[in-house]
Amino acid sequence: MTNKPLLSVFKGETPKRTPVWLMRQAGRYLPEYRAVREQAGGFLNLCYTPEFAVEVTLQPIRRFGFDAAILFSDILVVPDALGQQVGFVEGEGPKLDPLDCGSDIAKLSVDWLRSRLEPVYDAVGQIRQALPEETTFIGFAGAPWTVATYMVEGGSSRDFLNTKAWMYRDPDTFQALVDIIVEGTIEHLTAQIEAGVDMVQIFDTWGGILPEPAFARWVIEPTAKIVSALKQKFPETPIVGFPRGAGVSYITYVQQTGVDGVSLDQAVPLKWAAENLQDKVVVQGNLDPQRLYVGGDGLKQDVNRILTELGNGPFIFNLGHGVMKETDPDNVAALVRAVHQGS
Ligand code: CP3
Repeated sequence: MTNKPLLSVFKGETPKRTPVWLMRQAGRYLPEYRAVREQAGGFLNLCYTPEFAVEVTLQPIRRFGFDAAILFSDILVVPDALGQQVGFVEGEGPKLDPLDCGSDIAKLSVDWLRSRLEPVYDAVGQIRQALPEETTFIGFAGAPWTVATYMVEGGSSRDFLNTKAWMYRDPDTFQALVDIIVEGTIEHLTAQIEAGVDMVQIFDTWGGILPEPAFARWVIEPTAKIVSALKQKFPETPIVGFPRGAGVSYITYVQQTGVDGVSLDQAVPLKWAAENLQDKVVVQGNLDPQRLYVGGDGLKQDVNRILTELGNGPFIFNLGHGVMKETDPDNVAALVRAVHQGS
């Protein structure tokens, strides 16, 4: 038994109100986040200073009463802790010294990951203590494919040319890179669960750009390895996958990775999801973040459309991707009200 409504969905229970949380629910759209961010200086300093990470994780819980808190951190702390230094440049996003086929993957190692990320696990312990009893606590990591794109491109990318060229030209060395990220990710999620998160989410933001055989090898296989390793140690901890943009391949992803839930991007048709996914796992999603940005009656209509189509099976309300930094916090408050009233 659990008194956390969101967590109870994974036990086959139907809470009185549909649970809701949002990807990127902490962040720049909140003035209180911007204030702490300024105090912290760099973005990574925010992630690596427990006092700051705890505070910004709790901000959206206090303001909106979400059913879950997600640890404030980033998927790129894993490459950073594997030994590929990560920086965040104001207004530009993440910057890494790009890896290429010739570069020595051997300089990466999971050996120092736990000690490098100790402040993150400290923050997890403190957040656990501070959260209301009914609030589910979510840990996360990037999926190996998505993390690899940042490590190879050296940051965000439009066409992923270097990553895909490496993957097609030299799958064996690319496999070695993915394997080490798998290992680091298992370690990182294990440490978060040991420190007190109730559930974990694996973000595969760029999972949807691969043809079928590549999707099987670089999205499904590594994710299945992570799920299987975690299930051996923590059979009770739900794992949610987010293979953004995977389309019909959401079905094979669910069947072959062993996840307990999937997060749907906004392009996934609801009836299709109810028929093809919700009979197998918990589904989460999928309001368009731009709909939240615009707000008003259209927002309420869309919330009700999603609740109607997905509310009859195991369901957690979320966005199809993260909250945009331009979003008015009042629209987020209206969204939480609409979900709780409409369900
Ligand atoms: O959801 C949450 O509230 C928890 C925190 C969280 C962040 N990043 C904080 C963040 C989570 C779960 C992430 C995941 C993440 N990070 C993903 C996967 C999910 C997705 O959004 O697609 C990816 C691809 C990243 C990598 C990343 N981090 C990029 C590309 C950027 C720059 C783009 C941007 O929005 O600025 C970041 C920075 C980042 N991570 C910010 C936040 C709040 C903004 C940094 C700032 O305050 O300056």
